[in-house]
Amino acid sequence: QRQKYIRNFSIVAHIDHGKSTIADRILEMTDTVSERDMENQVLDDMDIERERGITIKLNAVELKYQAHDGHVYTFHLIDTPGHVDFSYEVSRSLAACEGALLVVDAAQGVQAQTMANAYLAVDNDLEIVPVINKIDLPSADVTNVKAEIADMIGIDADDAVLTSAKKGTGIAELLERIVSDVPAPTGDINKPLKALIFDSVYDSYRGVVLSVRIFEGQVKVGDKIELMSNGKQFEVTEVGVMSPKAVPRASLMVGDVGYITASIKNVQDTRVGDTITLADNPTKQALAGYRKITPMVYSGMYPVDNSKYEDLRDALEKLQLNDASLEYEPETSQALGFGFRVGFLGLLHMDVIQERLEREFNLDLIMTAPSVNYKIILTDGTIKVIDNPSQMPDPSEIKEIQEPVVRAEIMVPKDYVGAVMELSERKRGQFQTMDYLDNYHVNVIYKLPLAEIIYDFFDSLKSSTHGFASLDYNISGYEVAKMVKMDILLNKEPVDALSFIVHEDFAYDRGRTIVQKLKHIIPRQQFEVAIQAAIGTKVVARSTVKAYRKDVTGPLYGGDQTRKNKLLDKQKRGKKRMKEVGRVTVPQAAFMAVLQMG
Ligand code: GTP
Repeated sequence: QRQKYIRNFSIVAHIDHGKSTIADRILEMTDTVSERDMENQVLDDMDIERERGITIKLNAVELKYQAHDGHVYTFHLIDTPGHVDFSYEVSRSLAACEGALLVVDAAQGVQAQTMANAYLAVDNDLEIVPVINKIDLPSADVTNVKAEIADMIGIDADDAVLTSAKKGTGIAELLERIVSDVPAPTGDINKPLKALIFDSVYDSYRGVVLSVRIFEGQVKVGDKIELMSNGKQFEVTEVGVMSPKAVPRASLMVGDVGYITASIKNVQDTRVGDTITLADNPTKQALAGYRKITPMVYSGMYPVDNSKYEDLRDALEKLQLNDASLEYEPETSQALGFGFRVGFLGLLHMDVIQERLEREFNLDLIMTAPSVNYKIILTDGTIKVIDNPSQMPDPSEIKEIQEPVVRAEIMVPKDYVGAVMELSERKRGQFQTMDYLDNYHVNVIYKLPLAEIIYDFFDSLKSSTHGFASLDYNISGYEVAKMVKMDILLNKEPVDALSFIVHEDFAYDRGRTIVQKLKHIIPRQQFEVAIQAAIGTKVVARSTVKAYRKDVTGPLYGGDQTRKNKLLDKQKRGKKRMKEVGRVTVPQAAFMAVLQMG
């Protein structure tokens, strides 16, 4: 029967080890995409993904493979995002599979995300097929990488598939190994429908499109489905598979991976990880593992032009339809006017959302420095959770402040352990343990404040280890910390959107640094601008931006008109991301200056 010839698998890898390139080669070899349509990395369909070479949304493709045993197999290749910000999505997509290709770079070997993904695959009871990629590189060391896979992950790598996705080597063997090593899906077609939602995207014509894996039973057009976490019911309008474009089918049955549409208007109803069943004939038990994901980082988002507030609201609403992990609520700032407090999974997620808003919705935005949330225990015993410095209560009312801390696993070649420890200590880290993974790699574990991680930790880590370190972290709880609120004043007026929360021990340094940064970022105006950093009423640093003298276009008057226009144009474009705060013009960079303070 059909099930026997289905293979559902994901490709998991550390970032840049070649996951997308391997996926492309598999699509080519199975003629899923004609040569002419073949663009590099067809699975990454958003512009931003392609530009940055990262995978954000999950994608599942169906392809047909004629195996050496004479049978035609249906493969469902489920793509997973590789970045720590999106690890919940990785876990959900793995839950939709029976197997995972674990791709390891032949020159770089096993890295932190390789391990993290391998563990996720093991947790989901997947069959792991080790693949050593980039064997064409002069620095490839297959023997060593095999040993690393065996030692560090505990799976036999003697018969790992050796590939060069770049040259197409080993892909034919890989396809055969998928047939032989990845188990066919089990499950009973006669039981009530049980399907996992592992992704959802919003389509303005069809409503929410659910990516699903059917574990039991079947689903067809006209069925009334129920989402088990919230009991909501919808009538199915279309089912089908991605190949790689949407291809409608009469039904999806046990073992299949495909999509369902049901005129669902709100992506919030369809959280990743939820189980779908039939309203009239429900399954008794939902699939395990549904979890609501919560943002870790919050930032204020304001339209440069105040009249665009409603546009920003609409745009956020639309993005949220595609991205259930995005949260926002209105907030007001004295300095910036009406905007939103937006919650993100991490800084990368924040960047991606900002870019999409600016590009797809043509908005000019000012974003305030990201903040984590703090638990404030007040003297009267109540607990207040704040995600914005301006909500900080008066110090006289505060008993203690608790900040979120993470358990960070940093994997580095042993020569860089010193550099990692030095950096982690500087970022208020508490050393936990250190494991030698082999003769070469060390896993250094630190407890670190999330607030320090979200700033420039990852970049500093990369630069102090020449790019060799990899980082993986999980929130481990809240701990008491001596945090204070730093206010920034421009011409004696506090600018709420510039204030930030900082550890007492760093307060003076950061106050001084930010005042210096702002002095360079804030352009000269027609009057002098005094910049001050203050904790409560105590000014800790000050500086001044002098008034400017000349019109920039002055010297060109009567001169070359095109050059003059160019200059004015440039000025205008630069202005797009500026905001009048009181009388002072403040560029976007000022609000992010706190991120670059080391
Ligand atoms: P993310 O989507 O960011 O997680 O990366 P990825 O793991 O999908 O890696 P990707 O396929 O984008 O490849 C990363 C880089 O390695 C690209 O520049 C590829 O061209 C290159 N690359 C992939 N496979 C090979 C290979 O077999 N040999 C060589 N030399 N380069 C390769």
